Amino acid sequence: MNKLDILLGLQWGDEGKGKVVDALTPNYDIVARFQGGPNAGHTIKFEGKKFVLHNIPSGVLTPGCVNVIGNGVIIDPYILKGEIEGLCEAGFDLRQTLKIANRAHLILPTHRAMDAANEKALGKMKVGTTLKGIGPTYTDKTARKGLRIGDIGLADFCDKYNHLKESHLQQIKNLDFDMDELRLDGMTFADYEKAWFEGVEYLKQYEFIDSEYYINEALDAGKKVLAEGAQGSMLDVDFGSYPFVTSSNVIAAGVCSGLGVAPNRIGKVFGIFKAYCTRVGTGPFPTELFDETGELLRQNGHEFGATTGRPRRCGWLDLPALKYAVMLSGVTDLMMMKSDVMDDFKTVKVATGYRYNNKETKHLPFAACTETMEPVYTEIPGWQQKIEGQIPQKLEDYIKFIENYVGVPIKFVSYGPDRTQNVWR
Ligand code: IMP
Repeated sequence: MNKLDILLGLQWGDEGKGKVVDALTPNYDIVARFQGGPNAGHTIKFEGKKFVLHNIPSGVLTPGCVNVIGNGVIIDPYILKGEIEGLCEAGFDLRQTLKIANRAHLILPTHRAMDAANEKALGKMKVGTTLKGIGPTYTDKTARKGLRIGDIGLADFCDKYNHLKESHLQQIKNLDFDMDELRLDGMTFADYEKAWFEGVEYLKQYEFIDSEYYINEALDAGKKVLAEGAQGSMLDVDFGSYPFVTSSNVIAAGVCSGLGVAPNRIGKVFGIFKAYCTRVGTGPFPTELFDETGELLRQNGHEFGATTGRPRRCGWLDLPALKYAVMLSGVTDLMMMKSDVMDDFKTVKVATGYRYNNKETKHLPFAACTETMEPVYTEIPGWQQKIEGQIPQKLEDYIKFIENYVGVPIKFVSYGPDRTQNVWR
């Protein structure tokens, strides 16, 4: 049986999925997103230009590759329109190659307003969301109230929209949130709503599909399909550092529900991680560094959010967390990103366990919390050498240490943002 491959982030997102998908897509006919929405920001450098993709799969720059936004994704038509237009200006016409699932849910302007209102109400306990409306949209999906892409063409679309909007406005009022103060991408709510409806109209020129049939029939016909994850395993709604997580299943299981593909159709699972760790937003981060080494990782690695521009929190590689993510998704091939960021480091540390409740453990505790967990580190000599065609021996030792701990081979090492700066092992 022809199988679908998956590519996932194994940390807290921002592992560099965009670059790897772009490197892999020449081997695939279809790239499909299965969860998340415009909270994602996948950066690809192509012919000297930088593209940041939020909703659109990263196969979009590869000629002939079909890009599917699957049923598990949530879509803000205003943001998607802007993204398509940006690609059109750069010479990519997506009318033949972009397909959108009828069952994908819509992010309404009031979902974004609710995201802002919820975060404000949480005060110090806020999640630090991307304010793209992710939580409220998935909440409505599971509460069976949401609007979907396929609803756009129905006669009662505006009625359904107004009904849902009114119920959101009531909830926002209950949270004492001032809608007059709200700015969405610099616009007042009324202006954003207008732009949102223009986005809805604009999307009608693209093909809406039943993506579960499309993907399964493509596999039956021998086509090669890659499912592209967004965010990272430690942000998974079930297994991440709850409640500081996103609102979807970002692990391999999310592919089954987010594209309508059965578990026995899953082939390779590529897992991406950085040679160190980063996180944006609040929530536990056991190996976080607050010193100059953390700052060095941030500066060397240009660790500022692609969607929000926020500085990312930085720290050492967390191997128990990586192993956990590998276990949850059945990762078959690891890909290590940004090794070059630590090229000058004399020594590199990796967490190989945690001290929690006066005991050492290799398991992530249920109530993981930075204050009560202390990482147990192993120190490894730095490689202090750049990759020039070949991986330096000491970097090879670092790689082997990770492989031995996690039990899965590292097949790909990326050492720079350019498409060419990779070594396959
Ligand atoms: P939300 O997905 O916007 O609701 O945000 C929930 C949490 O996930 C916050 O901590 C965000 O910073 C984080 N998050 C969401 N999307 C991404 C991403 O693409 N990369 C990194 N962190 C993300």
